[in-house]
Amino acid sequence: MEHTKPSYYITTPIYYVNARPHLGTAYCTIMADVEARFQRACGRDVKFLTGMDEHGEKVAEAAEKNGFASPQAWCDSMEPAFRDLWQTLNISNDDFIRTTQPRHIAGVQKFLQVLLDRGYIYKDAYDGWYCRPDETYFTETQVRHHEEARRAAGEEPADPEHPLCPDCDRPLERIQEESWFFKLSAFEQPLLDFYEANPGFIQPETRKNEVVSFVKGGLKDLSISRSTFDWGVPFPFDEKHVAYVWVDALINYLTALGYGSDDESEFSYRWPAQVHVVGKDIIRFHCVIWPALLMAAGLPLPEKVFVHGFLTVRNEETGKVEKMSKSRGNAIAPEEVLELLGVDAYRYYFMSDVVHGTDAPISWGRMRQVYNADLANSWGNLVSRTLNMSAKYFDGCAPERPASWSEPSALRDACDGIFERYAACMQTMDYSGAAAEVLAIVSAANHYIEDMAPWALAKDPEKADELALVIWNLLEVIRIAAELYDPFMPSISAEVRRRLSLDPAPTRDLEAACRWGGLAGGAPVEKGDPLFPRLVDEK
Ligand code: ME8
Ligand code: MG
Repeated sequence: MEHTKPSYYITTPIYYVNARPHLGTAYCTIMADVEARFQRACGRDVKFLTGMDEHGEKVAEAAEKNGFASPQAWCDSMEPAFRDLWQTLNISNDDFIRTTQPRHIAGVQKFLQVLLDRGYIYKDAYDGWYCRPDETYFTETQVRHHEEARRAAGEEPADPEHPLCPDCDRPLERIQEESWFFKLSAFEQPLLDFYEANPGFIQPETRKNEVVSFVKGGLKDLSISRSTFDWGVPFPFDEKHVAYVWVDALINYLTALGYGSDDESEFSYRWPAQVHVVGKDIIRFHCVIWPALLMAAGLPLPEKVFVHGFLTVRNEETGKVEKMSKSRGNAIAPEEVLELLGVDAYRYYFMSDVVHGTDAPISWGRMRQVYNADLANSWGNLVSRTLNMSAKYFDGCAPERPASWSEPSALRDACDGIFERYAACMQTMDYSGAAAEVLAIVSAANHYIEDMAPWALAKDPEKADELALVIWNLLEVIRIAAELYDPFMPSISAEVRRRLSLDPAPTRDLEAACRWGGLAGGAPVEKGDPLFPRLVDEK
């Protein structure tokens, strides 16, 4: 594996606190958690960051609607909704940043000062369109093109006072105010050169093409301050202005490392980040504006932005498939899925069944199917059958590692090269591919049980050695599968290791842990309850 440096810095978007997190928010966070756990298992020194984006009009509006005395009070009241859900979902973030924290505000102000000092911002009048739910500016041309496209598709003309957002189709507002501008236009060529020199920067590839053609279409300078509105970070050199919420938010990736504080040693050690995990809705912010801001500030760019697709829901009124979102009010609460699947299966479902980078409709039926097929019937069943037989035939223990442990067998063959196959998927953030590799060895083990029929061997005292080898082989696959499944299903993997009398903590050297022969055997095994009780099919 490529090891560039020991530090591995991975981030999720910081989520708006206009409403509680939902399945989509959780999807991205789980994905980043799987990656963080995988990198820890490969020995990297991981910092995994998530947090809350608390400024901007949308959050202030939510505070007011909900009758809170101040936006800050509202944000404080929302913190547990995020923190508790991450804890429930077993998210292993090392830090949780809030953009109203002093450490963040100080860093944003430093960054703005650096932009000013380096000559990349200037003051001018802004006159254009703004989407509040997306907190995004649009030019007259973008808005006109969208309206033309809508009409061509036979849709009703929009109210000219409130044309619709080219990204989300919700009404825009006209904004006319004095503003600080960032010279984004100066970075058109530098960005194109950067994408070319760093082909892995935007993944998957289709997203990269989208970004490249967007930049080739021309970049306009970006308004980065608001003065008609005060819920934000004040400009240090112009107090009437607060930072545009997106510029404020992006800088969280730096301020969480102590950028702008008295001690920037963690920042020097960890920056640039290895990966920002984001949804496709915020690709331009992360792949265009953010790299340009960093270039302007003279800072190195992150290694990679991984862009995932949307979980979608069907709008019953219009019949249209929509992105699940907090501001649309069409969201499914994670608690509903947790109730059906439990934490580990919830994580597994979204990582194994939603193919990397694509949109996915939510389907309860599919959740049940995947749970029953992969977890109840395959993984759970393998563990329970094997531990039962081991306990039964070997007096509550695993057999000692047999002398013939290294001899070829169907199982040994199935596990040959498993780390490499799994890691190759993980390296392209193809989690469903990685999960499928593990399921393949689990299925091979279930077939092996049928083929070897250990219950028949157990009846014949002359077959004692063969029986020991079969059970040991099965336990060895379980040990390896538990390590490989650990990033996906950390509690179940810890439980499996505990039942095998192994250290419940995951390995820090996954490659070594996947080598055949690691199980010494001889220790007590615990049968325990089924890991994944079968769900009764309802649909
Ligand atoms: O954009 N399917 O915050 P946000 C999958 N504060 N993922 C989804 C999703 C869905 N239906 N809905 C949301 C913001 N997400 C800014 C980010 S970062 C410096 C500032 C996930 O609360 C997805 O990862 O709108 C998306 O990019 C993110 O939540 C947006 O969350
Ligand atoms: Mg959003």
